[in-house]
Amino acid sequence: MPVALVTGCSSGFGEVISIALAQRGYQVVATMRKPQSAPPALKALAAEKAADVVIAPLDVTNAAMRKAVIDLTLQRFGRIDLLINNAGITARGAFEDTPEDLWRAIFETNLFGPLELIRLALPVMRQQGVGRIINVTSVAAVLKTPLLAAYAASKHALDTASAAMDIETRSFGVRVACVMPGPFKTSLPNNSLDRDASAPYAAITASFAAKFDAMEAHAPEDLTPVINAVLAAATDPDPAIRYTAGTDAIAVLPPILQSLAPLQPLGLFLTGQN
Ligand SMILES: NC(=O)c1ccc[n+]([C@@H]2O[C@H](COP(=O)([O-])OP(=O)(O)OC[C@H]3O[C@@H](n4cnc5c(N)ncnc54)[C@H](OP(=O)(O)O)[C@@H]3O)[C@@H](O)[C@H]2O)c1
Repeated sequence: MPVALVTGCSSGFGEVISIALAQRGYQVVATMRKPQSAPPALKALAAEKAADVVIAPLDVTNAAMRKAVIDLTLQRFGRIDLLINNAGITARGAFEDTPEDLWRAIFETNLFGPLELIRLALPVMRQQGVGRIINVTSVAAVLKTPLLAAYAASKHALDTASAAMDIETRSFGVRVACVMPGPFKTSLPNNSLDRDASAPYAAITASFAAKFDAMEAHAPEDLTPVINAVLAAATDPDPAIRYTAGTDAIAVLPPILQSLAPLQPLGLFLTGQN
């Protein structure tokens, strides 16, 4: 059975991805910061398939925990076929209202934690001669989004690093792809580390906050497109660098995506799977 290690499984995409993989015959290490608060569906699955599904602690920003979870996966299942870097955080706020420590916290979770997990998984995958890494980014990786500079920059960096790594590792049988979702209804906005707007940024913050709130209110609850994108990225014989999910679901996105069309020769288009 192929073995998958997934981060950020306490809610949202990570929860449904880990369940979907287990249902499709993967052995799964579903990781989260607080395994004691694992979602009931995942807990039930881990109890039912105790030999194949493990819930394990992982804060992706903690080096010792990253090493421990790789060791646990190898001890338990002997290999790692699929690493899914899904854990992520966001924060709304103008650049001047977002202090350095918040920028660094977002990059630790969204970029450096995933990169260091990849650093630990790659030698295992190279030795196996097969492996796949899927990094969950966002349309914010390519859309230039005000009030989300740190989040968008962290996802952009992960997207770019993934594309470079995919070229470096493919001769070893290891491929790297990104799943790039549009907006979906998850806990992400509720956990957003938003900053209060300072006076100079009050007007632009209010204007964009209203647009974001409206977009989030209309975001789809059905996370199936994300599951399907992950499964395609995990199983396509020659995977694309980007798999979009739900980018057409929100009325505001198609015109924005359309406006990126002139950049297609640079590979920065979203309408296809590349
Ligand atoms: N929902 C969307 O509209 C959307 C769109 C594009 C991209 N994304 C991306 O999709 C991914 C999953 O987000 P989601 O929408 O499913 O939101 P979510 O429900 O809030 O899930 C985020 C997950 O990341 C975990 N996490 C946060 N910091 C962590 C850390 N330091 N170590 C380990 N886990 C950590 C959270 O765990 P805790 O419970 O411990 O906080 C939670 O399980 C994120 O990378 C996000 O940027 C989401």
